Amino acid sequence: MVNGARPFLRIRGVGRRFGSGPAEVTALDSVDTTINAGDFTVVLGASGSGKSTLLNIIGGMDRPTTGSVVADGTELTELSDRRLTDYRRTRVGFVFQFYNLVPNLTAVENVALAASLVMPMRDAGTLAEELLTEVGLGHRLAQFPRNLSGGEMQRVAIARALAKRPPLLLCDEPSGALDSVTGQHVLAQLQRTARDTGTAVVVVTHDSTLADAADHLIRLADGRIVTDEHEPAPALLVPPASSTAAS
Ligand SMILES: Nc1ncnc2c1ncn2[C@@H]1O[C@H](COP(=O)(O)OP(=O)(O)OP(=O)(O)O)[C@@H](O)[C@H]1O
Ligand SMILES: [Mg+2]
Repeated sequence: MVNGARPFLRIRGVGRRFGSGPAEVTALDSVDTTINAGDFTVVLGASGSGKSTLLNIIGGMDRPTTGSVVADGTELTELSDRRLTDYRRTRVGFVFQFYNLVPNLTAVENVALAASLVMPMRDAGTLAEELLTEVGLGHRLAQFPRNLSGGEMQRVAIARALAKRPPLLLCDEPSGALDSVTGQHVLAQLQRTARDTGTAVVVVTHDSTLADAADHLIRLADGRIVTDEHEPAPALLVPPASSTAAS
């Protein structure tokens, strides 16, 4: 989304250092960018370039050493630990490389458990079914994680992250543990989620083939932004037909 873009996050002069003295590492240095609602934002960079550090800061899991992060009008760097935890719990969904589903709960129960944190259980079950249907798993509701493929488990994890209807969805290497076909299915789902729901979706990856599909592409190198571009007509990711049929 470029025309009529609605900023969700304004990141200004953000730096993050770890350690001190000779052991000091600068993980992020003078990072400036704006993340819009409804954009599929892709953060590319080599290992150690600062991708996870940036995601942790905008997700309220870490604080910058310097600079400002304003989320939906709130300066995160000025929040107490408790308020920052509230921000993370209520406003941010997370999807990680490994899905971390509860093994003895079915797909729908995994999602409903997350939804029940923010709504009555009765509504949570209904929402969980809707969300799983949206990610193409309406036929897998009652399956346990052990009976699902990696891509299916990751789509359950996406549905779970969306259960609290977060305005910001952060995904760290969401296809990192998947083969390329299955990974594309997951990434197509994330791109569609941004378009359909207006969620600001941020995907961190070192898979540069994703660059063409991004509404907003950020490249990091050694903790600095080297590319920050908006693409008015990104390539649409299509779930591979074979994987849809197989899932
Ligand atoms: N808690 C920490 N303590 C010390 N150094 C850290 C810490 N977290 C990250 N770093 C360092 O900061 C730099 C950026 O790390 P980060 O995890 O953000 O990289 P990344 O781009 O996510 O890499 P990868 O693709 O391997 O996940 C690295 O040099 C890393 O070693
Ligand atoms: Mg990382």
